[in-house]
Amino acid sequence: MSNTRDDFVYDVWYFAGLSGDIAKGDLKRIDIAGQPITLGRRRDGTAFALRDICPHRAAPLSSGRIVDDMVECPYHGWRFDSQGTCKSIPALHPSDNMEIEKIGVRSYHLREDGQLLWIYIPRDKAQMTPAIDPPQIEMAKGKVFIDEHLIMETHIDHAALGLIDPAHGPYVHRQWWWRSDHTMKNKEKRFEPRNPLGFAMAAHSPSSNSAAYKLLGGKPVTEITFYLPGLRTEDIRVGNKFLLSLTSMTPVGPEKTLFRQIFFTNMTSMRLIKPIFRTGVRRFLKQDSGILNLQKKGLNYQPKAMFVGDADAQARWYYAVKKEWAAARSQNRAFVHPVKETILKYRT
Ligand code: FES
Ligand SMILES: [Fe+2]
Repeated sequence: MSNTRDDFVYDVWYFAGLSGDIAKGDLKRIDIAGQPITLGRRRDGTAFALRDICPHRAAPLSSGRIVDDMVECPYHGWRFDSQGTCKSIPALHPSDNMEIEKIGVRSYHLREDGQLLWIYIPRDKAQMTPAIDPPQIEMAKGKVFIDEHLIMETHIDHAALGLIDPAHGPYVHRQWWWRSDHTMKNKEKRFEPRNPLGFAMAAHSPSSNSAAYKLLGGKPVTEITFYLPGLRTEDIRVGNKFLLSLTSMTPVGPEKTLFRQIFFTNMTSMRLIKPIFRTGVRRFLKQDSGILNLQKKGLNYQPKAMFVGDADAQARWYYAVKKEWAAARSQNRAFVHPVKETILKYRT
């Protein structure tokens, strides 16, 4: 469980944000898995992603501007199209008949599915072609109801494990409207493998020991899915109403992870409780980031981790999927999902 620079998941799509994060004609810097990226959007609405380092002398292209649907570097004005091909070098004299189109900046595959932006991060820059598709998050539509984020000073592995850890709830999120160690119950949950690189707690009625679910009324059914590298969705449905919780942990760098919590819903009644709901969400985020920052104090000494009982099964799966994906890619063979359908029994 080393946290070296090369310990990210590669050849996968990382959640890069919401469509609304980047307006037409804008550029924005984002860092994913230690790679500096300029996220941009042309006037025609097409989003694109380029390496945020000008091939001339390294100025960040994201600090430039978009002119005629090209990215103009802020330093000497070189221009690149959205594929990264150099189209103009203003300082070149007309007698200089250089083939400037041979100069390029790396372009990343970007997909925009509904309101979700995905960027493909390859291990090897010579193999930019995506090996898989991004997860299909069917309910990520309608209005964004809540959108909160935090930066945590921890490695993505630990941040991701926090998302699939049923055992911390009664301790880290101890509060009357959620649960406490006094309300812990025996749980038996059915889990299934999911593609790409994920696993799900199959659709079930949520715990009767979480008061918060009562707000939804009716008989809610929830399904919780986790996709590597670090995306958790909880899809709650009551009839044709839905509330989708999308939690992403995106590594910014080796010891820095962006924690973003977004909710989508078509329940108009949720608008009424938005202020209370947002307060609750912020509280959860603070509690999770608080414990991860505390955990970091111990991790700094690089102790060996323990995975005990079914409560830690998902943590074992996380590492198993990560390892198998890396092996499948390096051996150029099909991925064999290490998770089999099973019932996990634990207390929470
Ligand atoms: S550094 Fe970008 S044009 Fe010179
Ligand atoms: Fe949590």
